[in-house]
Amino acid sequence: MSNPDQSIPVLAIDGPSGTGKGTIASRVAGHLGWHMLDSGALYRAFAHVAVENDISPDDASGLQELIRAIDIAFIQTDAGLKIAADGTDVTDCVRSEVGGKRASIFAKIPLVREGLLERQRRMRVAPGLVADGRDMGTVVFPDAFLKIFLDASAYIRAQRRYNQLKEKGFSGTLRALRKEIAERDAQDRNRSASPLTPASDAIVVDTSGKGIVEVFNEVVALIEERLLEE
Ligand code: C5P
Repeated sequence: MSNPDQSIPVLAIDGPSGTGKGTIASRVAGHLGWHMLDSGALYRAFAHVAVENDISPDDASGLQELIRAIDIAFIQTDAGLKIAADGTDVTDCVRSEVGGKRASIFAKIPLVREGLLERQRRMRVAPGLVADGRDMGTVVFPDAFLKIFLDASAYIRAQRRYNQLKEKGFSGTLRALRKEIAERDAQDRNRSASPLTPASDAIVVDTSGKGIVEVFNEVVALIEERLLEE
């Protein structure tokens, strides 16, 4: 069956937290003039609303109902991407470490992943989409024209995330953050539904020891190279 959406190009950028994935994806989307899907924000917002409504991860019917009813909107503002759930701005609370931990718990559940799949695919709008997540290249957009998997050592990722959170007033220790990130990564990598792993045709870019500009230039060069091959 032909799907008109499949002619719209998708760049998949996957990887664990602290690789600079979100920053790179949004800069590349700006550079190309394409739309951007921050799928982590979708899982974070979903988990936030589930917790607010006392829907536990083992309440299958409650989760099904929430998938049907929830309204999640992404609003691009000068201050960055705002996330609204059922009309309420939830950006600050979902971006916290607690928000990431909750997202990872609900993201393990196959019915949640299946339920959020269509919403993600609907974001494939002309002229193109940069999709940022864990399973963009493996599950959501297996036909992406280029799949990039950003990685970095666990030590560097924790340090980067720590610096990022410090700017927002985070008062925890680097040691505690390192432990939380390691736990969340293990949960994402070891789950049975869409585990965090590079697609077989992904290009792995190690960002350890590289600045954002260097990684951005590397990704843009890969895009140009791929477009020339087509
Ligand atoms: O990317 P971000 O840190 O915002 O993602 C939060 C959590 O959402 C991840 O740790 C992961 O458990 C989940 N997630 C996912 N699949 C995606 C994006 C995020 O399972 N495509």
